[in-house]
Amino acid sequence: MKNILVTGGAGFIGSHTVVELFNSGYRPIIVDNLSNSEESALKGIEKITKKKPAFYKLDFANIDKLEKIVKDENIDGVIHFAAFKAVGESTEQPLKYYGNNVAGFINLLKLISNQGIPIVFSSSCTVYGEPDSLPVNESAPIKPAESPYGSTKQMDEIILRDTTKSSSLKAISLRYFNPVGAHPSSNIGELPLGKPNNLFPIITQAVAGVGQSLTVFGNDYDTPDGSCVRDYIHVVDLAKAHIKALEHMDKQAAGFYDVFNIGTGSGSTVLEVIDTFEKTTGEKVPYSLGPRRAGDVVATYADCHKANRELNWKAEKNLSDACRDAWNWQQSLADRSI
Ligand code: UFG
Repeated sequence: MKNILVTGGAGFIGSHTVVELFNSGYRPIIVDNLSNSEESALKGIEKITKKKPAFYKLDFANIDKLEKIVKDENIDGVIHFAAFKAVGESTEQPLKYYGNNVAGFINLLKLISNQGIPIVFSSSCTVYGEPDSLPVNESAPIKPAESPYGSTKQMDEIILRDTTKSSSLKAISLRYFNPVGAHPSSNIGELPLGKPNNLFPIITQAVAGVGQSLTVFGNDYDTPDGSCVRDYIHVVDLAKAHIKALEHMDKQAAGFYDVFNIGTGSGSTVLEVIDTFEKTTGEKVPYSLGPRRAGDVVATYADCHKANRELNWKAEKNLSDACRDAWNWQQSLADRSI
């Protein structure tokens, strides 16, 4: 397996994965319509790897053009990141989410399922909802989704499972916990379009004085300090898990399907994240305590033993590394705009 199609390869997780593909000797081919990413990520990838990824500015759902790329580039494997991911927006525009994340995905599978091209799918710990016990492992029940976004991840997992059962398709769903940080070189990182929704970019923008101030959503939960618990996984570790997933599928028979949690295995509260950020960077995080956010899971973190054991993958970086790299990335953005 050599030529890997990376849909959404200019995005946050996609761009870091393209770097790791190059580092592991693969040839990444990016298909991205830049709807939630910027071409500057390609320059960043090139700076880090000294290699230029093949790039097609295209919506992966444009299936005729995609089919031609799969043929012309002799694609051996797919990593599928291209999807909408804003929970709030998904409740306002469900058809946008089902159209792209589910209907688009089905067309992609129609294209590759009988060609022996394996796929790694970006899933999410959102499929577990509020877990009954922690850490949550892969056999925990799938809970009713809190949003159309969450539904699309659940549906795509089911579609993948059923398609592998009935065709030669091999597939792995990686259930990401909370991806954070940036490449240590500060050449690539998260580029939220408009107002960010996620904790890390909100923190770094608040500290840099370029964004909204941070409100901690709830401090009266049944957790060690009252704020929500998440498993924050460094994006470089997460990117490496995709390489392990490709390698794993190489050893499996046609029709293989499995799911893996990708996290660190430990949970941190929002207030612990703020504290770690301050200790690591020496910067003060301006924040206030506010009401709970509707739909928030109280506490979730991953049992990662299955990925450790079967993919030979383990998170190597910690929360402090993620804080340092996210902050350096934020500062590099400020330098660029001068
Ligand atoms: N938080 C705040 N203030 C903020 C933003 C977030 O206190 O301004 C808190 C949240 O309440 C939560 C934690 O920070 O406790 C992390 O919140 P994020 O929005 O960064 O991440 P979530 O865990 O809510 O959501 C993430 C992804 C979703 C995905 C979900 C479950 O962003 O796409 O994990 O997989 F659905």
